Amino acid sequence: MSVKPRPGRVAGKKVLITGAAGGLGEAMAFMMAREGATLALTDIDETRVADLAWRVNVQTPGSAFAYAHDVASEDDWARVIDAAAADLGGLSVLVNNAGVGGPLAFVEQDTVENWQRQYEINLRSVMLGAKHALPHLRAAAPASIVNISSIAGLAAAPGMGAYNATKAGVWMYTKTLALEAAKADWNVRCNSVHPVFIKTPILDPFIAMAGGDPDKAAERLARGIPLKRIGEPDDVAYCVLYLASDESKFVTGSEFKIDGGMTAQ
Ligand SMILES: NC(=O)c1ccc[n+]([C@@H]2O[C@H](COP(=O)([O-])OP(=O)(O)OC[C@H]3O[C@@H](n4cnc5c(N)ncnc54)[C@H](O)[C@@H]3O)[C@@H](O)[C@H]2O)c1
Repeated sequence: MSVKPRPGRVAGKKVLITGAAGGLGEAMAFMMAREGATLALTDIDETRVADLAWRVNVQTPGSAFAYAHDVASEDDWARVIDAAAADLGGLSVLVNNAGVGGPLAFVEQDTVENWQRQYEINLRSVMLGAKHALPHLRAAAPASIVNISSIAGLAAAPGMGAYNATKAGVWMYTKTLALEAAKADWNVRCNSVHPVFIKTPILDPFIAMAGGDPDKAAERLARGIPLKRIGEPDDVAYCVLYLASDESKFVTGSEFKIDGGMTAQ
């Protein structure tokens, strides 16, 4: 099916976002739709992603499709990429955004199950996504892959072993993909984005640790951040918008820190 083009910074781009029903995915979806993209919004939570697509379509009619998608499953990737490419008429941007944190666990209390879950959802999914999307991305070039890592992929913290390791893996694997694509002259770029604490449901455990008070949790989390606040979802979405657009046509294999200056210290 062909979708009517709309103007904007990503006009005509056909964008698949995983984990779209979460805080960052939702901000990216509304922003990219406003800027002219058509969207395949995917999430393991079928109800919430269908609701998001409905709300995006109220803003920009006909711009969003929703798919149930477990990024840990290769069968799901094959099915969803085929369906999305058919619905959008191709695929020019893949945003690997789905991710999970685990329970905080020091090494002697950590478990194989925790590592396996974070490895499959945070890191292996990026390989599966690239593998299955690349035939479509190459056909629609100039194309872009944007991988959502974390500041935790660049700087470690006690008790966050699996998250640190999987997000660091996303950072490095992004460079592998960028170099493979450049070597093959596919005109497909690949970059990673590294947010610090951003106001989304992924911070719920920190709110629980602050006695259920979101303001207290935000104030505590902001203590190490030079700009003295945690981030808003749009702070990340603007970076993803740039990397999805052809404005970033000379940018590949790079990491973008959205951290209020935290790692400048
Ligand atoms: N919010 C932050 O502070 C922050 C900081 C750094 C990095 N990140 C990263 O940003 C990305 C988005 O996080 P968010 O803040 O929007 O969190 P979120 O918890 O609001 O959203 C994550 C989404 O991923 C989905 N998901 C979980 N497992 C999945 C699976 N197996 N398959 C498909 N979807 C799955 C969830 O249903 C949810 O909608 C994640 O990769 C996260 O690690 C977030």
